[in-house]
Amino acid sequence: MSDHPQLSIETRDRLIAEACAARSRAYAPYSRFTVGAALLADDGRVYTGVNIENASYGMTVCAERNAIGTMVNEGGQRVVALAVCTANGVTPCGACRQVLSEFAPDDNDVPVWIVDGQGYVRETTLAALLPDDFGARHLRRG
Ligand code: THU
Repeated sequence: MSDHPQLSIETRDRLIAEACAARSRAYAPYSRFTVGAALLADDGRVYTGVNIENASYGMTVCAERNAIGTMVNEGGQRVVALAVCTANGVTPCGACRQVLSEFAPDDNDVPVWIVDGQGYVRETTLAALLPDDFGARHLRRG
């Protein structure tokens, strides 16, 4: 990609395909709004997540945070790129932006590919989605 020359179109297309495939496994019987996420981690692996709802609605966990949980559980440490697939091509919620940022480089320069039911919609970055972020570096004492 022009902004991220280290990431190939093949990587983008793979993440998009995996996010959309994951979406079919979402557990969303209450909202019927299914979400799939796929991220490339610093270990070179791709991790996916889906939204998992609960009859106690507040226990729902978004697809992006589940993908992060899978990554951390399996040894990945940093998010390199992310694709999110929904019916209408929406961007990650605010809570997920914060959690993604925890595992992104300090500058949040992570491409985020937004996909709808028809395919690729647009590219943005975590930095654009979460400007002026709060992170671990703000807790370090000088
Ligand atoms: N959802 C996600 O999985 N990711 C987001 O970034 C936005 C919302 C899920 C949560 C819930 O299962 C459904 O979408 C409707 O809010």
